[in-house]
Amino acid sequence: MTQQTPDQYRVFGNPIEHSRSPEIHHIFASKNQQNINYQKQLVDIDDFSNAITDFIDQDGKGVNVTVPFKEQALAIADELTDRASLAGAVNTLSFKDGKIFGDNTDGEGLVQDLITNKVTLKHSRILLLGAGGAARGVLLPLLAQNPSSIVIANRTVSKADTLCLHFSDSRLSASSYQNLEQQSFNVIINATSASLSGSLPPLPTSIISQHVVCYDMVYGKDDTPFLKWVKEHGAIKVIDGLGMLVGQAAVSFYVWRGVTPEVQPVIDKLRASLK
Ligand code: ATR
Repeated sequence: MTQQTPDQYRVFGNPIEHSRSPEIHHIFASKNQQNINYQKQLVDIDDFSNAITDFIDQDGKGVNVTVPFKEQALAIADELTDRASLAGAVNTLSFKDGKIFGDNTDGEGLVQDLITNKVTLKHSRILLLGAGGAARGVLLPLLAQNPSSIVIANRTVSKADTLCLHFSDSRLSASSYQNLEQQSFNVIINATSASLSGSLPPLPTSIISQHVVCYDMVYGKDDTPFLKWVKEHGAIKVIDGLGMLVGQAAVSFYVWRGVTPEVQPVIDKLRASLK
């Protein structure tokens, strides 16, 4: 019996060296009898669209897109899902029937990870920190879980206002960090890039209690500055973004292969490798 050539997938980014996506997708594939080959590719900043064309010419089936190409991936797509078009960014491209399909699985990855961690989103009051691409990317899937409200807090409040206008949903409102003082939340999600630079947004300590779930989209070997800080102020349930990383990959895998892979063994494996 001849072995069939595996279907080809890539992740495009710059930088890309530290991407865990090939490892994650190869585990999904081997556990689900899917014959795929998934490689990371460093793409020159000005070369994204050529890299896509070349890969399609090589019969590539799909590409994950990471920093800084998610907006270019949106622009290059012939068709977009609602969640990609509202996110203003694409992290999953599929090549089929001569067309490029763009999707964004980041928000669904976050929601799935919150559900896995038994976090109640329905009727809950959510505080979303940050109003950049990461925040915008998760708003539609979060709203789809029927929270009672989502407050978007940002250093530059006008950016949070713009996001509210863009999504035009009565459950959304914008706030400064300072004005959070008198409010209480069930879930706080850090979608700022502050953790990446070792800092954290200037939050009032009054919003932290043992009942609030705190989530940071960033992950690392140790707690992020945000998760450290909320623990110091009494939070008990804290979650980092490793599950979101694996979750968005699982949704991409589903988009491409029509199979939902199990995420927990992959999360456990990556967690162990961080130690
Ligand atoms: P991303 O795609 O990761 O969201 P981005 O679009 O550049 O990146 O947005 C970064 C977000 O992190 C913004 O909300 C930014 O706040 P401003 O809009 O006020 O700049 C936020 N951010 C970054 N560093 C921060 C810090 N040290 N404290 C608070 N917010 C920070």
